[in-house]
Amino acid sequence: MSENIYVIGNWKMNKHLNEVTDFCDKLNISLHDMFALDNSSNIEVGIAPAAIHLPQMSSASTFSLVAQNIAAEENGAYTGEISASMVAEYSRYVLVGHSERRMYFDETNEILVKKLMLAYKYNLIPIFCFGENLENREKGDYLYIIKQQLEKVIWPVFSSSDFLNQNLIIAYEPVWAIGTGKNASPEQISEVHDYVRDLLINNIENIKDSVPILYGGSCNSQNAKSILEQKNVNGLLIGGASLDVNHFTKIVQIAHGLY
Ligand code: PGA
Repeated sequence: MSENIYVIGNWKMNKHLNEVTDFCDKLNISLHDMFALDNSSNIEVGIAPAAIHLPQMSSASTFSLVAQNIAAEENGAYTGEISASMVAEYSRYVLVGHSERRMYFDETNEILVKKLMLAYKYNLIPIFCFGENLENREKGDYLYIIKQQLEKVIWPVFSSSDFLNQNLIIAYEPVWAIGTGKNASPEQISEVHDYVRDLLINNIENIKDSVPILYGGSCNSQNAKSILEQKNVNGLLIGGASLDVNHFTKIVQIAHGLY
């Protein structure tokens, strides 16, 4: 099982430079205070800012950086795009397959496979997001949908021996829980995380048993503890509640208190 617990903030298209600097300064101090006496901490704290803020943050933060996106092509005539190799100069992780990218930017499974391979080529650790929408949840076929999402992207990449034992993080983010204030219950989360853990173990030889499975969707300081206590939950991907440094720090403290 995963040794680390991840607390990752996804800022989406929010914050300007002055706010970014202020957040970094405050979070650096809080993390220093929290971990000063605890060198062995297994909590990995990360923030996914807008790409334009990655350079500034890489020199100003003591926590890890996560890119929100990379291009599906390696380089060349793709106006407005940012390549994996560019992002890798500043960031350790990259989100791939976030539902907002699938929904608003038409990212298909084929595109996500290309992004995953480019992430590996440039030593970025992908955080692959998956999750059902409200209709699938209500119809009751959500486990089937989740299996398809993983099979169509993770399986093709990991069936190649080129990707043997690559680092991978996955994040269950039910679309109906994102930005709605309606998080999935610990039981609902547990059902999916246990199912996905079994799927990975039973289907992909080249994948590490310890792939961390994060949960995302309306996480906050009120529900963080009960979600993190679930057996196969290895961390949180936090949108709205990561924008406020005090709120985000509180969630990191909760994770730190539990592990
Ligand atoms: P939320 O977003 O915490 O605002 O629901 C989560 C995400 O989209 O990663």
